[in-house]
Amino acid sequence: MLEVREYGEKVLREKARKIEEINEDIRKLASDMFETCYETEGVGLAAPQVGVSLRMYVLSIPPEDDETTDRKKFTEEVIINPEIISRVGKQTGEEGCLSIPGVYEIVERAEEVVVRYTNLDGEEKELKGSGLLARAIQHEGDHLDGTLFVDKLPPLKKQLVKKKLNRAYGVRW
Ligand code: CO
Repeated sequence: MLEVREYGEKVLREKARKIEEINEDIRKLASDMFETCYETEGVGLAAPQVGVSLRMYVLSIPPEDDETTDRKKFTEEVIINPEIISRVGKQTGEEGCLSIPGVYEIVERAEEVVVRYTNLDGEEKELKGSGLLARAIQHEGDHLDGTLFVDKLPPLKKQLVKKKLNRAYGVRW
């Protein structure tokens, strides 16, 4: 399992670099990231969260209408160099982040998105998602630009939450 970087670590605020070549290192990283995602019971994990400033994340999203823990039924994908090409509607729901343990807040996101990306085989793909999947695509994509979900809160809430976090982690974000 990889070490998950927490609020206060600079890598979480960097703009991650584009992946130019999918080599053995990238495949190993993807596999380790899935492992870490399972261990921590996360639905997604972005490379900067494990200290690697590259544009890549993994998703492991359970089906909306099913309590199953069978991962074969999950949407699981390695998303490389993503670009959200469509955002439709609005959803509000509680969000958390492995890099900000213990903090859960209501965040507004697009209800449905389409992300264009490269998969681990180097193929250009598009993934359309709504609900939790759409939320994860937006949350993980933000990580690649150094944005955290607490940045997305309404102004007063954001001020309060960030003040608390900044104090706890000794940063001025
Ligand atoms: Co996160």
